[in-house]
Amino acid sequence: MKIVTYRELESKNSLLPLLDHAFGWTFNPRTFETIIKIDPRLKNSPVGFFAVEKGNVIGSVGVMDMVTRTLNGSIEYVGGIYGVATLPSHVRKGVSTALMNAAHQHFKVKGYSFSFLWTSRALVAHAMYEKLGYVDMLERSTAYKVLEAEKNKCIHKEKASKLDLKDILKIYDKYVKSRAGFVLRDKAYMNTLRRTESLSAKDCIIDKDGYAIFKTNLGGPWIRGTWIRELVALNAGAMGRLLRLVEKKSKDLIYDRAVFDDALLEVYKSRGYMIQKRSHSTLMVKPINAKESFKQTYGEKFYLTSLDFF
Ligand SMILES: CC(C)(COP(=O)(O)OP(=O)(O)OC[C@H]1O[C@@H](n2cnc3c(N)ncnc32)[C@H](O)[C@@H]1OP(=O)(O)O)[C@@H](O)C(=O)NCCC(=O)NCCS
Repeated sequence: MKIVTYRELESKNSLLPLLDHAFGWTFNPRTFETIIKIDPRLKNSPVGFFAVEKGNVIGSVGVMDMVTRTLNGSIEYVGGIYGVATLPSHVRKGVSTALMNAAHQHFKVKGYSFSFLWTSRALVAHAMYEKLGYVDMLERSTAYKVLEAEKNKCIHKEKASKLDLKDILKIYDKYVKSRAGFVLRDKAYMNTLRRTESLSAKDCIIDKDGYAIFKTNLGGPWIRGTWIRELVALNAGAMGRLLRLVEKKSKDLIYDRAVFDDALLEVYKSRGYMIQKRSHSTLMVKPINAKESFKQTYGEKFYLTSLDFF
């Protein structure tokens, strides 16, 4: 077995069965190439480490360059792990462990303080990450509401216009000013989100104190749900106002799978949403070159939204 980086990988095509088996992603080498060129987290990175046997990719561990803001306002560069997978025919032979170690060595050389990853405690991978020195740091709260059936509710379909990333970024920067976490965004990052998350003006409401980004009609016409991807507002009044507007545009049900702001959670509660504070899903962290612990570096509240999932 040989370990190579994504950039050294001769044929990327065998990533398709590997990632489809592991995650149900039909990996498309062409669109991925485009994403690598624009995503600031991948642009200058090896993208990932891959185990190759007889010309086939049998395992993968993706790596990202990520940037965080600490409790004292300084910028801290960290590593991000994604796409951890081994072909079913090759599991339990140490493939993933070898690739994770290659990723950690890479982060060490880069001088990154921590390595981050998202997983679920329901997966066997969780035990592997614990073995490798990761600990659970953050869960995500969720909010759900089944909307009253409204006969003849007419959802107004707007003409597609351009998504105002500049205004969104301005409000976001104000909102996260004194927060620690994945809170540093720039134009390039916003553009990447627009592309990779298919953000569009019709799925966004902006007012002067906040904005909501959402997706409607996920899962086909028989599941008419609205998924709130990011609701950011400078005060609880604006949060409630935006939420009411999103509800007006929604049919049947509405949900937010990642609420990391207590004030927003209270707003969801006050509008009758079902709240779950715990999740199987967990952000795990491993110190690499860290001088201080995670809590000393970021405090009690590490902020991100579902748009920052990786
Ligand atoms: C999780 C996964 C990547 C592990 O890959 P792997 O190459 O088999 O991992 P390793 O052989 O290095 O295993 C390392 C350790 O993980 C744990 N582990 C892996 N598979 C396990 C299983 N089926 N049951 C229990 N523990 C398991 C064990 O502690 C193992 O060490 P051990 O074999 O010495 O007991 C692989 O099962 C997979 O692709 N799963 C589907 C995709 C996925 O869930 N990815 C993670 C998303 S966050």
